[in-house]
Amino acid sequence: MSLFSGKAVSLWGIGMHVPERILTNQELEQMVDTSNEWILERTGIRERHIVAPEKQTSDLAVEAGRIALERAGLAPEELDMVIVATNSPDTIFPCTAAKVQGKLGAKKAGAFDVQSGCTGCVYALTVAVSGIAAGVWRHVLVIGAEALSRLINWQDRNTCVLFGDGAGACVLGPRREGDGRFIAASLRADGTKHDLISLPAGGSERPASKETLEEGAHFVHMKGNEVFKFVNRELPPFLQSFCESSGVEPGHVDWWIFHQANWRIMDGILRRFGVSPERAVVNLDRYGNTSAASVFLALCEALDDGRIRKGQKMVINSFGAGMTYGAILLEV
Ligand code: ACO
Repeated sequence: MSLFSGKAVSLWGIGMHVPERILTNQELEQMVDTSNEWILERTGIRERHIVAPEKQTSDLAVEAGRIALERAGLAPEELDMVIVATNSPDTIFPCTAAKVQGKLGAKKAGAFDVQSGCTGCVYALTVAVSGIAAGVWRHVLVIGAEALSRLINWQDRNTCVLFGDGAGACVLGPRREGDGRFIAASLRADGTKHDLISLPAGGSERPASKETLEEGAHFVHMKGNEVFKFVNRELPPFLQSFCESSGVEPGHVDWWIFHQANWRIMDGILRRFGVSPERAVVNLDRYGNTSAASVFLALCEALDDGRIRKGQKMVINSFGAGMTYGAILLEV
């Protein structure tokens, strides 16, 4: 079952924030043995934003959250829950969401983080929709925020060319007159592949030590090509069956908001469905892979520039460390 039941829930407002500093492929050419051509051809990325030294994930999250609240016409005090999806929390604990709740002044809200790789945003949205649909919460702020540049080994060309920093935020509430609604969601994982993307040290398995520092075990490690193959194998049948159980044909989905990791992955999936690549919202050329923030940045830009119009249906989907993956169908 993937259809939401209970109260209808809709997207009340969306916002995004990216740091000012832009790091281009040409700059990366000076840092590691890579080329603009390789990065563009293999991923589609041209540049990414990098968080300022004095800022952290919670700062990016607060900026995006403020914009989403303003657009939703909601005061922070009216929030019941703040959920932050992130893989680069300010600290392992307290959760980043609690800092965001405090900084926003969302005095009546609870707060928790969702850490589920890049799919965290889809997991967080699903939890938020379910909580509102069941009547437990009324207004929820869901934020995907990352300062992954802090966890990247800038000498490792396998990872440093891929990621960027930023935050996107969605305010969810009960459906109002004229609103669209969240229709269905499906969340999956294959934990037997947990070693494909990891940050090996700093947790209880391998606490920080001189050895872990020397090994660079506090940086993101990724078996990129194995991730690529996993996603290309698992995502198309998953999305096909998600669409079937949600009662929509892939060809009738107006927009595909894919996790912005690699243009070749998005293009490959749409080709298999016989859907025009123009149905995908793509902004990874300007932001890189912003992990749990990526689909919110894409959705926000496409709503802001009028590409996505009222009444249209879209599938948001993501995949990432775990390996986790998931999808949500909604109408705006
Ligand atoms: N510049 C130049 N050459 C490079 C670079 C680079 N930055 N990185 C790797 N290479 C080389 C490799 O060393 C290899 O060389 P070799 O053939 O001499 O051994 C060659 O390029 C090909 O490497 P592959 O890894 O096979 O390249 P591939 O086509 O798979 O592209 C990429 C790599 C872009 C990482 C791709 O596999 C990918 O996008 N994977 C998915 C990553 C992803 O989506 N992650 C999302 C989750 S992130 C999260 O959850 C936090």
